[in-house]
Amino acid sequence: MPNGVTDTRITGDRMTRIINVVGARPNFMKIAPIIREMDKTPGIDWFLVHTGQHYDVQMSEAFFQELMIPRPHINLEVGSGSHARQTGQIMMTFEAVCLREKPDLVVVVGDVNSTVACSLVASKLHIPVAHVEAGLRSFDREMPEEINRIVTDVLSTYLFTTCDDADENLIREGVRPEKIFQVGDVMIDTLYHHLDRIQGMDIWHRMGLEDKGYAVLTLHRPSNVDDREVLGEIIGALVRVAREVPIVFPAHPRTRQAIERFGYGRSFRFFDLAHSAGDVGRAGPEIRGPGVWCCDPLGYLAFQNLVTHAGFIMTDSGGIQEETTVLGIPCLTLRDTTERPVTITQGTNLLLGHDGDRIVKEARKILRGEGKRGTSPPLWDGKASERIVHIVAKEFGLN
Ligand code: UD1
Repeated sequence: MPNGVTDTRITGDRMTRIINVVGARPNFMKIAPIIREMDKTPGIDWFLVHTGQHYDVQMSEAFFQELMIPRPHINLEVGSGSHARQTGQIMMTFEAVCLREKPDLVVVVGDVNSTVACSLVASKLHIPVAHVEAGLRSFDREMPEEINRIVTDVLSTYLFTTCDDADENLIREGVRPEKIFQVGDVMIDTLYHHLDRIQGMDIWHRMGLEDKGYAVLTLHRPSNVDDREVLGEIIGALVRVAREVPIVFPAHPRTRQAIERFGYGRSFRFFDLAHSAGDVGRAGPEIRGPGVWCCDPLGYLAFQNLVTHAGFIMTDSGGIQEETTVLGIPCLTLRDTTERPVTITQGTNLLLGHDGDRIVKEARKILRGEGKRGTSPPLWDGKASERIVHIVAKEFGLN
């Protein structure tokens, strides 16, 4: 236990001790509203464990500052590695934390390696696990996240879901209905919580972009970026789209490395941008004209500000499919499958794989004003965390 950790928390016989786990970038937006609700709930003694799966400032610390997440009480500092190594290291170090802290509940979010590793540890120590964002299935086991989702759900006592299809998946897999709680989407809680700040920014304008006159791209799935041919086909399509509309591309470190490794750098125009919301655009690195404009990963607020003013988004992320659905912005998903089908059936999402011609065709449709429209799923209303913490408090006899 690092010095001072126990001192910062109230302990007492009647407190319910909860460990909230985060590890990688998308976890931070999901845990922030849950922590806020736990803070308001008497009887909960929570603390935060960061596995250290993501460690670069712009992949981790920047989000803690912007989303006002308290510093993690414990950082396991596992860093990068193969799946087995990363998962194993998280398990070994997290087991020691659980043995020492004896939590009543471990809360895990999403589908990253940290999620499954900590669920395995907790359940073997007979500590109940609550999985936030349970039941999502792409039915593609080549995605490491699909395996993480299935295993975490099997091990969890409380399965908090975002939508009907997640409930149906769990029921089909034999999960007892009383363990499933449809609560909505915590990522959308964070979006709504910060929407005023996001809308009060003018990053897009300071970058020299026109309202709705550009696209935003994110790309980091191993299936898209680790294979030279697949990445080449996607980049070929992007270059064609970028002749008609500038594309802003905050690149994940994995993708940046792949671009360099495969020698695709000439397809991009690189520009520097400080990642923190306050600094972005202050130096005024103007985007002049068409091209795929690549920069370092952005902070949450700056990224969402770019998204809200974009004409459309191209992505292989999971969360962005949901955020664009809520914001009513057309989203072209560069994957063959999605674990979030509700964003297609109800929202603004289209699944395109890495077929270059389709990507160009659908982008052109949007540029002609024929982008997909949709509605938000029920319960994606900014109150998912409130529901989750209310249920947890009830289960532990706190209200
Ligand atoms: C992980 C998650 C993925 C999630 C994504 C969001 C798993 C299996 N994958 O993928 O579901 O969508 O995070 O970003 O958990 N790296 C850095 N700095 C960092 C972190 C990573 O440079 O702070 C580089 C390293 O070279 C590392 C590579 O990115 O090897 C991949 O990182 P890793 O955490 O293994 O997976 P992601 O691709 O980030």
